[in-house]
Amino acid sequence: MPYRIPSSAPPLLIFLVFFLSLLISTNAYLVNSPPTRYCPNSTCGTHSFAYPLSIARNEFTIPSTFCGYPRLILICQDDTPILPLGSYKYRVTNIHYHNQTISLADTDLHAAGTCPRPHHNLTLMMDTVFLSNTSFRFYLNDTPYQSYLNYTSSDTNLTFFLNCSDGPPERRITCYPGSGDKEYSYVFTERDVSYMERVQECQDIVVVPVLDQDVNWGNLSALSSDFGSLLNRGFQLGWSNDTDETCDRCELSGGRCGYQFTKTSLEFTCFCSNRRADQHCDKWLAESRNVC
Ligand SMILES: *[C@@H]1O[C@H](CO)[C@@H](O)[C@H](O)[C@H]1NC(C)=O
Ligand SMILES: *[C@@H]1O[C@H](CO)[C@@H](O)[C@H](O)[C@H]1NC(C)=O
Ligand SMILES: *[C@@H]1O[C@H](CO)[C@@H](O)[C@H](O)[C@H]1NC(C)=O
Ligand SMILES: *[C@@H]1O[C@H](CO)[C@@H](O)[C@H](O)[C@H]1NC(C)=O
Ligand SMILES: *[C@@H]1O[C@H](CO)[C@@H](O)[C@H](O)[C@H]1NC(C)=O
Ligand SMILES: *[C@@H]1O[C@H](CO)[C@@H](O)[C@H](O)[C@H]1NC(C)=O
Ligand SMILES: *[C@@H]1O[C@H](CO)[C@@H](O)[C@H](O)[C@H]1NC(C)=O
Ligand SMILES: *[C@@H]1O[C@H](CO)[C@@H](O)[C@H](O)[C@H]1NC(C)=O
Ligand SMILES: *[C@@H]1O[C@H](CO)[C@@H](O)[C@H](O)[C@H]1NC(C)=O
Repeated sequence: MPYRIPSSAPPLLIFLVFFLSLLISTNAYLVNSPPTRYCPNSTCGTHSFAYPLSIARNEFTIPSTFCGYPRLILICQDDTPILPLGSYKYRVTNIHYHNQTISLADTDLHAAGTCPRPHHNLTLMMDTVFLSNTSFRFYLNDTPYQSYLNYTSSDTNLTFFLNCSDGPPERRITCYPGSGDKEYSYVFTERDVSYMERVQECQDIVVVPVLDQDVNWGNLSALSSDFGSLLNRGFQLGWSNDTDETCDRCELSGGRCGYQFTKTSLEFTCFCSNRRADQHCDKWLAESRNVC
């Protein structure tokens, strides 16, 4: 005989059974990551990117629908995935979803071959072109438009002192051409503080992250000739998985965070297995919120 709730069951019991089954299904979502069908990977050339990363065709046309963290948007240039940070572009060389890291190399430095001259620091800020779109800026209404990315324990910094009048010969970069009285440039690791104190009258200081494991710590005197390959191999940044509250609620309900442009604005969107929701995939919670 099929099981049926007797018509005399108190409404509270029905409510409890319903509530418990809801809890169980919500927990199932927490254990298994949601299926990716409704948030297809984005592609760039032969590369494929999964949530929370997504791709814009180019910097000037942010897509009308996005399936990923709004602060982790890559662009696709000549079939090469690029992460724009501040006003600069970094080539994406690898993604490690398991520890949430992205491997990057500065496109300017790569173009410069074996003797690159760094010109700018890394800024962990969103792309300035994206931010010039007022709808986008409005959506990320918290300043200072910090990206979700940060340094990881696999990085170490190289500090370049450029166009100086003098400094320690042990760290002098010999492949740069001289320029008058400020003709020397130097490169230091974080362990070179005593050397660093000896530089004089520099025109520029630039700090560039590289992979700690690539540095030949046993023979730092090789650094001033090897630094080019370190810069070309790049560095890693990590993305944080503690997104904002709205996105948390969406993910806990089994959805994936993204956004879509409507006629007038950019709006947060929770991509559920069978629909798009404005907050989260849980119909019951949405209705109860309205009742309370
Ligand atoms: C999406 O990307 C993830 C991670 O690279 C991969 O595991 C998954 O198979 C991809 N899915 C599709 C449909 O390409
Ligand atoms: C921002 O980008 C969206 C999507 O590309 C576009 O529809 C909108 O017109 C842009 N807004 C401005 C102010 O450029
Ligand atoms: C980035 O990492 C540093 C430590 O390396 C930490 O002090 C800082 O709070 C982190 N920033 C963000 C936005 O997570
Ligand atoms: C993340 O994983 C990759 C590949 O397994 C590894 O090379 C990298 O060092 C890891 N990064 C961190 C910060 O753990
Ligand atoms: C590298 O330099 C940046 C900016 O100066 C700093 O925030 C970061 O903590 C440094 N990284 C390490 C590993 O010291
Ligand atoms: C440093 O010297 C180089 C090479 O001579 C030159 O191209 C560059 O403009 C100088 N940098 C500054 C900040 O003056
Ligand atoms: C890079 O950062 C260092 C300190 O972290 C700063 O002294 C230097 O002026 C910055 N260089 C540029 C080009 O902004
Ligand atoms: C350290 O590197 C320098 C420059 O590449 C090289 O001449 C020297 O032989 C190296 N020393 C050792 C102990 O490997
Ligand atoms: C978030 O990241 C932390 C540290 O990287 C990790 O321990 C935790 O399991 C992650 N949580 C989720 C839901 O992926």
